[in-house]
Amino acid sequence: MSEPKRRRKLGYHTATLRHAFLTKLPDALLRGSLRARHVAQPIEIAEHCFASPHWPRDFDGVRIAHLSDIHYGHLLGEERLMQAVDAVRAVRADLVAITGDLVDLSAHEAPLLFERLALLTARLGVFVVLGNHDHLDHPRIIVRGARDAGLIPLVDESVRAGGRDGLLVAGIDWATSIPACGQRLRKCGTGRADLLLAHNPKAFVAAEERGIPLTLSGHTHGGQVARRANRRHNLVFTQRLSAGHYQVRDSHLYVTNGVGAWFPLRVNCPPEIAVIEMRTR
Ligand SMILES: [Fe+2]
Repeated sequence: MSEPKRRRKLGYHTATLRHAFLTKLPDALLRGSLRARHVAQPIEIAEHCFASPHWPRDFDGVRIAHLSDIHYGHLLGEERLMQAVDAVRAVRADLVAITGDLVDLSAHEAPLLFERLALLTARLGVFVVLGNHDHLDHPRIIVRGARDAGLIPLVDESVRAGGRDGLLVAGIDWATSIPACGQRLRKCGTGRADLLLAHNPKAFVAAEERGIPLTLSGHTHGGQVARRANRRHNLVFTQRLSAGHYQVRDSHLYVTNGVGAWFPLRVNCPPEIAVIEMRTR
């Protein structure tokens, strides 16, 4: 067995055990109330408007619906998925960005997941990058499922959205560190992308160095437990960029809370779909 395959298998087993002991067991002990409470929280629509002179003038005022960390599986089932899909559809965005962790554990959830995500449409396209959970089982199934559903999976590549002179959208695959994110970004091409999709917010370090005006990320779930007064005081200690909006010079990063999670607890950290309007000034 190759080293990456062995590591993936180990990661899958670790995640399955964690899920059994930290999610399924406490939920069973509380007779399903953890899960019920988790999915009863309304999904907030978080609207933001950012401006950067690097943003292309032809796309001034574009609205992007940002959906992330669905974690489709035991905690987030079909009904909740449809709530998220309907909420994104209602926004009528010009572009939809899905920034990883589409499934919680198993890629075998993918057919039904993509049957529903296929309902998402936007004039500039619906783009997808993978997260760490999508890599636990069979990432290729996720990529293929996205493509077959009419979405545009980006695996260390960039495409023009909206024709030859369109918005340059880059998307990188899951990477754990700042240098690894930077390496993946370099694979996307030499041109400066207009929009970067990266599950890991650490990608912003390389994105800002390149002057990319907007990076959209997930992964942290906003820390899941945060202080009401300051979302950045949360349980994620391993990420400097853990929640909400960050700006360095003319580059913006938005880290969404996402809609799902692998652990059924959110305090002052509601599930959300972000809607970002980008302006040139
Ligand atoms: Fe996640």
